[in-house]
Amino acid sequence: MDKSCIIELSRHFDPRGNLSVIEEFKDIPFKIERAYWIYDVPGGEARGGHAYKENEEFIVALSGSFDVVLDNGIEKKTFQLNRSYYGLYVPKGIWREMENFSTNSLALILASTKYDANDYIRDYSDFLKIAQNEDK
Ligand code: TYD
Repeated sequence: MDKSCIIELSRHFDPRGNLSVIEEFKDIPFKIERAYWIYDVPGGEARGGHAYKENEEFIVALSGSFDVVLDNGIEKKTFQLNRSYYGLYVPKGIWREMENFSTNSLALILASTKYDANDYIRDYSDFLKIAQNEDK
């Protein structure tokens, strides 16, 4: 949680339309191994509800808005994402939920690892056990 943060991206203003950019290790603190996006989410819906053992992510609301709730096992923090020129860095080992999606929102997620179902912690009580052990 301590390392989680909003990262503001560069903005290149142009009457033809603005442009923002993300470069690995420059704008975000990891190498990008994977990109995925979440779309066609019914308004008000929630997703996520898991942590990763190793994967780190950077989440941007390319369109619309949604909330990302981060939980380190001790405290929870909610970040509202609603602009395409900043995003949320989520370190490994943090429980994260995405909720309150606006209709037609588009979430871009850049990830530091390839997809690996074994990297997921999907059970909240397992997460708490791991988080508490890491605290020691
Ligand atoms: P999941 O991460 O479980 O989404 P959420 O936690 O928001 O419900 O992913 C949903 C499905 O998509 C799941 O069957 C796995 C698949 N998936 C991939 O195949 N590759 C990926 O990179 C991701 C993120 C998911």
